[in-house]
Amino acid sequence: MSTASVQFVKYSEHLSAKLEDRSAKVGIIGLGYVGCPLAVEFASAGYSVTGIDLQKSKVDTINSGRSHIQDVPGEKIWKLVRTKKLTATTDFSVISELDTISICVPTPLRKTKDPDMSYIISACDEIAKYIRPGTLIILESTT
Ligand SMILES: NC(=O)c1ccc[n+]([C@@H]2O[C@H](COP(=O)([O-])OP(=O)(O)OC[C@H]3O[C@@H](n4cnc5c(N)ncnc54)[C@H](O)[C@@H]3O)[C@@H](O)[C@H]2O)c1
Repeated sequence: MSTASVQFVKYSEHLSAKLEDRSAKVGIIGLGYVGCPLAVEFASAGYSVTGIDLQKSKVDTINSGRSHIQDVPGEKIWKLVRTKKLTATTDFSVISELDTISICVPTPLRKTKDPDMSYIISACDEIAKYIRPGTLIILESTT
């Protein structure tokens, strides 16, 4: 096996163990209709979750233990924030501490009916600044 393959196996085994024992730090980029419920589900499953969004109002709403998404009850967020399982920020530098990153930014359709990828590209530019080897990136946005 090549050195790169050996390193990959090491990273994936390390991450699997952290996911198994719930010590993995989970990040969600984009706290809208997809990202917010996803963050709540991960936190409810026992992971420490950090949500990142450009909109400070959404970040402040979550950190004050309230919900901006109709399907997500405020009490659920309040409990997770109080127990420090869920936090939100506009500061992308937290990426350096994360083990997984789920990208949940918008991909609106252009007039030509193909998706506008600029939000994903912008999120990836921020990820590239801070990511560590071994971090899992999941693209939830429609592409
Ligand atoms: N809503 C659905 O039912 C649904 C279902 C399947 C797939 N999707 C896909 O999931 C993706 C997200 O959809 P949504 O409905 O949650 O969108 P949304 O508009 O509700 O939320 C997107 C969030 O991302 C934030 N954002 C935008 N650019 C950002 C950036 N560069 N960095 C950090 N945050 C950023 C916005 O401020 C917003 O809070 C889309 O690609 C959509 O097609 C949505």
